[in-house]
Amino acid sequence: ADEFKVVVLGSAGVGKSAFTSQFMKQQFIEVYEPTIEDSFKKFCMMDGENCMLDVLDTAGKKEYVGLRDKHIANGEVFLIIYDTTNRTSFEEASALYGQINRIKQTRPSDGYLGSVPIVLIANKCDASDSAVTSDEGLGLAREFQCPFVEASARLDVNVQDAFTLLVREAKRY
Ligand code: GTP
Ligand code: MG
Repeated sequence: ADEFKVVVLGSAGVGKSAFTSQFMKQQFIEVYEPTIEDSFKKFCMMDGENCMLDVLDTAGKKEYVGLRDKHIANGEVFLIIYDTTNRTSFEEASALYGQINRIKQTRPSDGYLGSVPIVLIANKCDASDSAVTSDEGLGLAREFQCPFVEASARLDVNVQDAFTLLVREAKRY
């Protein structure tokens, strides 16, 4: 089966671990515990084909992001997650996109294939105190030339779909 090295990126507290856990174990993580790094493997059927996902859940907290460059260098496909209730996390998504392109030496200006497989996730869409609109999310995804998914790790909305899209993206490259 094809194997994909997925790296989950985003600011602290956006829900990277909750999202990953919902996908891997159908469990939501209620209590926030900052991640240093965690990795998981899962066999899945995506679009009728078996694949192995090797998912690296990275740190968002400033104290722990020192390994991010290395994780990006080793990764093949990326989930960039922001928290719809946290404006700063939305702004930081652009910096992460820049960091991916710097490390992969890709140039978004070369068009779709000038970049790497990415899916942009707006997480916590269940929350009522939204600070980022859907249009802003879509606009950012257009800039990244990648799919955009509004999701909730809490309610298990679009979590599976995000990974399906990611594999689909990976196969286009
Ligand atoms: P770091 O590991 O420090 O980078 O944080 P993280 O991105 O892994 O965040 P984590 O998954 O630990 O979630 C942070 C907090 O947000 C936790 O209290 C979660 O329960 C909560 N959370 C995660 N996803 C959702 C969601 O979809 N909706 C809501 N309402 N809360 C969520
Ligand atoms: Mg975490």
